[in-house]
Amino acid sequence: MADVSLREVLDGDLPILFEQQLDPDANRMAAFTVADPADHDAFVARWKRIRAGENVTVRTIVAGGEVAGSVLLWRDPDLPGPEVSYWLGKEHWGRGIGTAALAAFLGVVAERPLYGRCAADNRGSRRVLEKCGFAVRSEEVGFAPARGEEIAELLFELG
Ligand SMILES: CC(C)(COP(=O)(O)OP(=O)(O)OC[C@H]1O[C@@H](n2cnc3c(N)ncnc32)[C@H](O)[C@@H]1OP(=O)(O)O)[C@@H](O)C(=O)NCCC(=O)NCCS
Repeated sequence: MADVSLREVLDGDLPILFEQQLDPDANRMAAFTVADPADHDAFVARWKRIRAGENVTVRTIVAGGEVAGSVLLWRDPDLPGPEVSYWLGKEHWGRGIGTAALAAFLGVVAERPLYGRCAADNRGSRRVLEKCGFAVRSEEVGFAPARGEEIAELLFELG
């Protein structure tokens, strides 16, 4: 099992999370991203809202002593339960960190059902959700800012 822990987000994490947000491969993979990942002002405003949010739970993912990424829970009013989301720096991919981080986060958030979404072709994210017990509930088509087109997206549920 990967050496992964979660902790509160510190101010010093934000420059690392911003660098991770800029990665073109990660953006293509996630597809349903912020409109402009390079917009630092928008990043700062978004993370201010996330860290202050009453309806958001967020943690920094630490792996091997490094800030590997973030995992968060937020509420989409169109879903009957909150939704999880996560993002790792590319140098941390493929070592079980995403799976271990989401599994640990599921111990932090007790509410069920929980939801998760990923582009239908984001196999890494799909497997992270499946390995943590989520199952596909539906497939939709939506506009993916990082790809500039409509693509298939899967909605997952953990009951
Ligand atoms: C998606 C993401 C979190 C996966 O994290 P990770 O730590 O690399 O995933 P893990 O190492 O825990 O691997 C989990 C499973 O996914 C598979 N996987 C991971 N990355 C993959 C990839 N790029 N292509 C195909 N399979 C992949 C692994 O093989 C493993 O499956 P298996 O056990 O069946 O072999 C990470 O790639 C990431 O942050 N990507 C950019 C942002 C993003 O897509 N976020 C999710 C938005 S919905």
